[in-house]
Amino acid sequence: MANVDFVKEGAVAIITVNRPQALNALNEEVINELDELITKVSCDPEIKSVIITGAGEKAFVAGADIKEMSELTPEEGMALSERGQALFYKVENMKKVTIAAVNGFALGGGCELAMACDIRYASAKAKFGQPEINLGIIPGYGGTQRLPRLIGMGRAKELIFSGDMIGAEEAYRVGLVNQIYAPEELMAKVKEKAEKLAGKSSEIIGQAKSAIHNGIDMDLASGCNYEARAFGLCFANKAQKEGMKAFLEKKKG
Ligand code: CAA
Repeated sequence: MANVDFVKEGAVAIITVNRPQALNALNEEVINELDELITKVSCDPEIKSVIITGAGEKAFVAGADIKEMSELTPEEGMALSERGQALFYKVENMKKVTIAAVNGFALGGGCELAMACDIRYASAKAKFGQPEINLGIIPGYGGTQRLPRLIGMGRAKELIFSGDMIGAEEAYRVGLVNQIYAPEELMAKVKEKAEKLAGKSSEIIGQAKSAIHNGIDMDLASGCNYEARAFGLCFANKAQKEGMKAFLEKKKG
């Protein structure tokens, strides 16, 4: 692919947006290539966890491609937003663990891509933001929805209204980032985490994701009801039988 690299290292897939000349901005081609790869990875039973990162020293992804957006009509703007949203839903709902390795700027669509992942690990040099206000638009790839869910409405409004960037430390403090690493350590640490998570059952992780994602939009009672059904389904899985058997046998021995 011209703009997105893919490697498989055992049970871990690494997807790298590779358009450093535009700070890995998401143009139509990148969106299409990412979509194709997400489908490929979703269908590969050997892959258990997925790392998404950006090529080069400077950026994870600096947003949607501004050149491509500058002349859009309202209808085309809506279509562009829906296209990106559909891709990010697909990322969010993969039945595998997804980790954003945020190696630099994660702005606009870049921050939104990172938020569509399950976990975000950042280089100490990373910068996050939703600068769309400075372009006369609002976030369009899920940012107005996922950011308040992740960091709370007050902080999300402040970031979206001001367009200000925040560094890795602040992103960690507000819960946008799970952990910060030295830039030169980031990929090795993220791979370590991804490998560890790849050892868990994908089916059970899929159940947990489904309960979390579906439940967050429900009232507590409906969410708990959903959880009970997902919990029940775990008992049809060999991971439950093996996991509990191993625990009990260890106790006996
Ligand atoms: N789209 C298109 N090209 C981009 C880009 C983007 N989002 N971000 C950077 N680039 C390009 C620049 O145009 C430049 O290309 P040229 O060399 O051909 O001029 C190249 O990448 C390097 O960028 P800069 O020279 O600007 O680098 P810098 O170090 O001076 O600044 C930056 C870095 C602060 C990240 C700056 O590039 C920037 O502000 N980028 C735009 C960030 C942004 O506004 N993102 C939101 C986009 S809108 C969006 O994402 C909407 C949505 O939700 C769907």
